[in-house]
Amino acid sequence: MQKILVTGGCGYIGSHTIVDLIEHGFDVISIDDNSRSTLHGLIGIEKITGKKIKNYKVDLKNFDETQAVFQENIDIVGVIHFAAYKAVGESVEQPLLYFENNIFSLINLLKCVKEFNVPHFVFSSSCTVYGNPDSIPVTESFPVKKAESPYGATKQMGEVMIQDFSNSENVSSVLLRYFNPVGAHPSGLIGELPLGKPMNLVPVITQTAIGKLPKMFVWGNDYATRDGSCMRDYIHVCDIAHAHTLALQYLLNEQNKTNCDIFNLGTGNGVTVLEAIKTFEAVSGIKLNYEIGPRRSGDVIAIYANNDLAVASLGWNIKYDLTEMMRTAWAWEQKIKQHEDIEKQKASLN
Ligand code: WQD
Repeated sequence: MQKILVTGGCGYIGSHTIVDLIEHGFDVISIDDNSRSTLHGLIGIEKITGKKIKNYKVDLKNFDETQAVFQENIDIVGVIHFAAYKAVGESVEQPLLYFENNIFSLINLLKCVKEFNVPHFVFSSSCTVYGNPDSIPVTESFPVKKAESPYGATKQMGEVMIQDFSNSENVSSVLLRYFNPVGAHPSGLIGELPLGKPMNLVPVITQTAIGKLPKMFVWGNDYATRDGSCMRDYIHVCDIAHAHTLALQYLLNEQNKTNCDIFNLGTGNGVTVLEAIKTFEAVSGIKLNYEIGPRRSGDVIAIYANNDLAVASLGWNIKYDLTEMMRTAWAWEQKIKQHEDIEKQKASLN
């Protein structure tokens, strides 16, 4: 079995990707310092796949500890790098935290990839690199615009570093630009655990529906879109996860066109905030308590992917539609609530 190192394996997309890799015959190890995640993801992975995953609780900013993981696993054939901070607002308030964490960790990782001759590297990038695009849908050849936030800047810098590194070293890489990953594994055993108050639309919707948030706001309904609210390309996390397996197979089979190929991961469908809310209401049978609020600063008006390249080159087939995205996100929110209620009951008994 080919061994893959997943960084950030306890996180939202990392945990779903590990499940998909195992289901496609890969051996997986993870590095995650659990600074923004818990071991809950690994427990879920074990329940779904029957496999126990070894996680190294290592901060990638610590070169010696990172190097030690590679020394112990000299048979790694590919690295998938998710581990990064990703809160846009926090990155605006604490840019150095983001540059230090996301950039130093990538440098250390690439140094190890070079030292231990790991042939393949897959990077978790974002449609945020396109900024406010001049037209939609966006293809991979659209220009990279000035980053809207330090978080976005770390994704852009990461892309450049990996491109230059792959061109000078004997490494082939893929950059995957995600649109808006949402939903949860259909088993209900893994999903997103937002830390603190959620900012992203789908966790805001599900937390409002369950009563954790008293109400939600639609940030602006006066944009030039079909109903005035912003448009995004929501994509199920399991479809995103599978694209990573395909990207690795693509590299392992030497199908890559360049040393560093780039793929958009979106459905190709633009969905407005109000449409997302309507779909959630239909799926859950719950009337959401929402109000129209002001525009959110920095919001892109409308963006969705042209995903032709990923479909043609990776053989990527999208399996989940918006209804399934909302259904699995809602099932996961209810699961979290159930878990929290049990914990509260236990605490009150002690
Ligand atoms: C989606 C839409 C909001 C919350 C994120 C990341 C970005 C990149 C893409 C990763 C927007 C609206 C939201 C709410 C709302 N990802 N909304 N009420 O803006 O596309 O950005 O995904 O790299 O870096 O930040 O996603 O989920 O925050 O917002 O009306 O309470 O929902 O205005 O139009 P976004 P989002």
